Amino acid sequence: MVVDLSGAPETKSKAAPLIVCDNVVKIYKVANLETVALQGLDLVVARGELLGLVGPSGSGKSTLLNVLGGIDRPSAGRVWVDGQNLLEMPDSELDQYRRSTVGFVWQQGSRNLVPYLDALENVALPLAIAGGRARSERAAALLELVGLADRRHHRLAELSGGEQQRVAIAVAMANEPKLLLADEPTGEVDSATAQVIYDTFRRLNRDFGLTTVIVSHDPVLARYTSRVVAIHDGKTASETVRQMARPRPSVDEARGIEEEEEEVFEELVVLDSAGRLQVPKEQLEQLGIKGRARLEVAEEGILIRPVPEAESAHAADVLSAELAVGAGRRGWRGAEVASRLARGVGESIAGSVSAGRRWISRLWAKISGSRRRSRRRSGDEVETGR
Ligand SMILES: Nc1ncnc2c1ncn2[C@@H]1O[C@H](COP(=O)(O)OP(=O)(O)OP(=O)(O)O)[C@@H](O)[C@H]1O
Ligand SMILES: [Mg+2]
Repeated sequence: MVVDLSGAPETKSKAAPLIVCDNVVKIYKVANLETVALQGLDLVVARGELLGLVGPSGSGKSTLLNVLGGIDRPSAGRVWVDGQNLLEMPDSELDQYRRSTVGFVWQQGSRNLVPYLDALENVALPLAIAGGRARSERAAALLELVGLADRRHHRLAELSGGEQQRVAIAVAMANEPKLLLADEPTGEVDSATAQVIYDTFRRLNRDFGLTTVIVSHDPVLARYTSRVVAIHDGKTASETVRQMARPRPSVDEARGIEEEEEEVFEELVVLDSAGRLQVPKEQLEQLGIKGRARLEVAEEGILIRPVPEAESAHAADVLSAELAVGAGRRGWRGAEVASRLARGVGESIAGSVSAGRRWISRLWAKISGSRRRSRRRSGDEVETGR
């Protein structure tokens, strides 16, 4: 889906995206330890989109859902959902936002449902809290929507994992949210049941235009969503988009028999507003790129090339020689140690002689400073240093 950014994020107009995350940072502090769970994340989700969110464990997926759901506030950046700025919203409005704008489905059935109430009562509960009328009828209609009309009088323990999750979806739909958020809703069910759950999300999305964000580790998610965004280290790294493409011309087509379009998945790397992108680790390792790389504009795009090893080794040689000469000129012993040090510097800066020289001059200044201090302490004449 192409996201239309023509509407301003702070409006509720249909043209405006439902979600805009701009440079969102979330820092958790536990005792003296800080964890940066979101590191300047950008994301735009159109109204009516069904979005998948994937990423390694600890990459920030649940943190992002909690921010979007108004459960956690971001530490910095800007987040709009349906024209509302979540960062600036007072607590009372955030409570109201959680109740009326978003619906949540969690991984564990027990977190979504009250165990001693049956399915119908569970769905009726948020309706009762909101003070709505004809609650039983509406709850029954919602259960029918998720294909569980015949399970209305079953309690949590009398429902399968997949059924629990479908009841949870009906509960999340009760207050007619604009945004449905699901955090690994298929994490505790088998793959066949997962497909039924994904199908339910897809149907609600299609029939009601309900904007939905689903977090999952399941690669099959891409088949049910229009776009899957991958998060790495608290930033959006890549997107997999689903497109319909015609197969190559075949004999059947030549005979005038139309062939059906097939689904094609393409993974695209995401560029943030500052032009940064995350290159997949495997590709960097395959090409031996680390530390620094060379960018070249080619006919078809931009090439990222490794800096040749020989160049790095040359830089290391030049720097170690210069350091050894400098040490000799100052009459300092340990020139060999210094030269080894320089080799380390040369290698670590991977090819730049000028950066290495700056490092060396800082090193000389440091050594001269500490010598001056130790001479002052011992009452010797102050060395001028060079
Ligand atoms: N309430 C919290 N307090 C402190 N640190 C937290 C808190 N919630 C998350 N974190 C940390 O933030 C980082 C991102 O966590 P998050 O739960 O968002 O990851 P995730 O992508 O959902 O992982 P998983 O796939 O395992 O569920 C982790 O390093 C985690 O330890
Ligand atoms: Mg999580």
